[in-house]
Order: sequence, then structure tokens, then C-alpha cells
Amino acid sequence: MIDIHTHVLPGFDDGAPDLKTSVAMLQMAQEHQTTAVVVTPHVIEGKWFPSWQEIKSGYELLRQEALQSGVQIAIYPGAEVAMSLEILKLLSEPGPYCINCSRYLLVELPSQEIPFFADHFFFSLQLKGMVPILAHPERHPELAKYPEILRKWVEKGVITQMNGSSLLGRMGERVQATAELFLKQHLVHCIGSDAHGVNYRRPQLQEAAVKIIHWVGEKQAKLLLVENPKRIITDQSIDVSSTQEPILCRSLVQIRHWFQR
Ligand SMILES: [Fe+2]
Repeated sequence: MIDIHTHVLPGFDDGAPDLKTSVAMLQMAQEHQTTAVVVTPHVIEGKWFPSWQEIKSGYELLRQEALQSGVQIAIYPGAEVAMSLEILKLLSEPGPYCINCSRYLLVELPSQEIPFFADHFFFSLQLKGMVPILAHPERHPELAKYPEILRKWVEKGVITQMNGSSLLGRMGERVQATAELFLKQHLVHCIGSDAHGVNYRRPQLQEAAVKIIHWVGEKQAKLLLVENPKRIITDQSIDVSSTQEPILCRSLVQIRHWFQR
């Protein structure tokens, strides 16, 4: 399995605070059948705003440390960019801040609302040759309430990444029901751990893999956990048009019921 969303890079954000924790996280990922991780520190205007050069230097340091510690897992550079108009100005071409310097850029929404310029943000990135990957849409209250917004973005070429912990119910029942809905509606293209440490929000995908197999089958699980992430890292295109019929589930009714409560 390939984990395309982790906060393993030490001292960059609210993830690993030091190299020791970073190496422990990589070891834990390896023990849980993950063969490669992408380090995706937060890039948030006014909060954490590393340059791409700083991320690459930190990544290189971590890679050396991991090698010396005997960790076999492959590591790739990346970032998790928070949607803002200021950051959009910085993103002029594929490469900087993108996963392994590819065309794929991991983007997160503000936690509670969808900015009025969201469509413009995604479209501008696409015009510049990048492919946005929306991080953990299942956690967003507006997308849970109005899944048609996410469907419209996916139809326009936005890729989505779901958190393994959401599938397991660790972010609450509403997030889990939304995760199930998006998965069964084929609105998910890859899975990440969004790991922040070794004690909570851990770098493990194994349990989530079991859940995905249970809900959508082995073939789809392999696509989300292995094949699509590999295509992202190697800068190959991903087919977002689903030829499969959505699997019917009651989640949407449940989700609307939670909001009414
Ligand atoms: Fe994250």
C-alpha cells in the first residue's frame, strides 16, 4: 500500500515534532504493510508556510535518517496546501508543492465552509497543468450535506483522497457514514492515513483496507490503496470517470438525519 497523505516530516506542522518520531512513524507504517509514504506537511497562509525548498531539504534529511535507521520504506516529498487565493498565486506550474514533483497537488478546504472561489481555485490549477487532489472530503460538513458538490468537482477532473481513520469511525459516526457513501458512489480515488504521530492518527492503512474490501470489494481496494497512488507518484494519468454503478446505501438518509438532530 502507498500512503499519499502523512505529516511525518519533523518540525513543519502539528505532525511529527522531531526526527525520532518521524522514524518511529515510518517504522510503524512499514510494520503495517505500507511500502511507500508521501510526506505532506501543511502549507497554510499565516500559520505554516514553508517554501518548497525547505520541504525538499527536510525530506532529504528524513530520507538519510531513515536509511541509517534501517527503515526500508520509500519516501516521497509533497505538501497539503490549504485553499486560498494567496497560495494560488504561488502555484504557477506542476512540480513545486506537488506529490513527488508531479502534476498532482493535495489540497484541503477550510474545515467548516467551502470558499466562494473553490471552483476558480480548482480550475486555475488545471489551467496551469496541475491535477488537484481534494484531501478527506468525507470530513467536510458541507460536502456531507451536499454530496452533489463533490460529484460536480469529480466530473470536472478533481481527484479525491479519503482518510483511512474516517472509514473506521475514528472521526465520528457522521464522518464514517459519509465515507461509506462516497466510497460506494465511486467518488474516492485514493486513501491516505493523514497520520500525525504514533499515539493517535497513526500511519496505518491495514484496518481501513479490510473495511474497503468489505464495502466495495478487493479489486476496488487495490485500485485505491495501490494502483492509483502509484500512478500519482509516477505522474501518470488517473481515470476518474467511473464505469461502475453506484452501490446503493442508506448513508445519505442517515447523514441528513444527523444534521437535522
Ligand atoms: Fe493532513
